Amino acid sequence: MWTSSKKPILALAPMADFTDAPFCRVCREVSGKDFVIFREMVSAEAIVRDSEKTLKMCGFDKIERPIVIQLFGGDPEIIREAAEIVVKKFKPDGIDINMGCPVPKITKKGQAGASLLKDQDRAVEIVKALKSANLGVPVSVKTRLGWANDDEILEFAPKLEKAGADLITIHGRTKKQGYSGQANWDRIAEVKKLVNIPVIANGDIRSQEDIDKCIDITGADGVMIGRGALGNPRILGGSELLLKEKVKVVLRHANLHMEHYGDEHGLKTFRKHLLFYFKGFPGVKELRQELVKVESIADLERVLTKLQ
Ligand SMILES: Cc1cc2nc3c(=O)[nH]c(=O)nc-3n(C[C@H](O)[C@H](O)[C@H](O)COP(=O)(O)O)c2cc1C
Repeated sequence: MWTSSKKPILALAPMADFTDAPFCRVCREVSGKDFVIFREMVSAEAIVRDSEKTLKMCGFDKIERPIVIQLFGGDPEIIREAAEIVVKKFKPDGIDINMGCPVPKITKKGQAGASLLKDQDRAVEIVKALKSANLGVPVSVKTRLGWANDDEILEFAPKLEKAGADLITIHGRTKKQGYSGQANWDRIAEVKKLVNIPVIANGDIRSQEDIDKCIDITGADGVMIGRGALGNPRILGGSELLLKEKVKVVLRHANLHMEHYGDEHGLKTFRKHLLFYFKGFPGVKELRQELVKVESIADLERVLTKLQ
């Protein structure tokens, strides 16, 4: 069970449009075995509807294990059904429920993502429904400190534990904060003292030093890294890529991206990664214009030779 693996647990955060199969595979290849991958969220409703695109988002290569598939949705029965389908079809190492996403597309019906912080009874029903399915893998929850106030989690986390959640990951911000301000690790420390299930701390961890500091402050069972891994997939292995290595990794990632998404959009959907890979590099300002125009691997190779 990934939830009881060696402490501190290290996790790659789920990030929509980023932690897809190609990126997760690159993270595993350059950072080794000692972390768990959380794939980008997928819609429980779309899984149940048998959406080909959504099901494809759940596929993974065995090298990615341990891997957790994160579902979002608001209907306990649909989430249960979706989890059963995903577990049967893909056999991931865990199912996670998104209870923290602040994006209006997810929260507008008032039932999914961060909305579940406001409708705690529904959140409890979701966890109970999943546990009643006896999936054979841990059921975890990823959430925030609250919707409006950062002490809401003190009431919410024990309820999730009581409902049967096997682990909680907490992003140390409220929904209202979005991504502003600083993640409040002290509040996560309070939650850790309140519950007996493992707690993973998340928010603003960008280096090995941050990992150590966050574990020290929170006493958490692990840490999860999101934005710090964008353009820096080695961070989960505790270091950064040198420029020469980075160029190789970018090409590997680009090739996997092309294989996965096909040639239809070329590398258009890869450009966002390129901007992260070369953020802050000397001379990259001038290259930015070219990086955001690459269409093919040949284009990319041509631009990359200018960096070396
Ligand atoms: C582009 C992007 C997409 C995200 N998508 C998801 C998601 O699908 N599910 C989720 O639970 N959190 C999502 N998050 C939140 C992250 O998992 C994480 O909680 C947040 O970025 C804070 O951690 P960090 O400071 O290490 O980035 C996303 C964040 C970003 C920046």
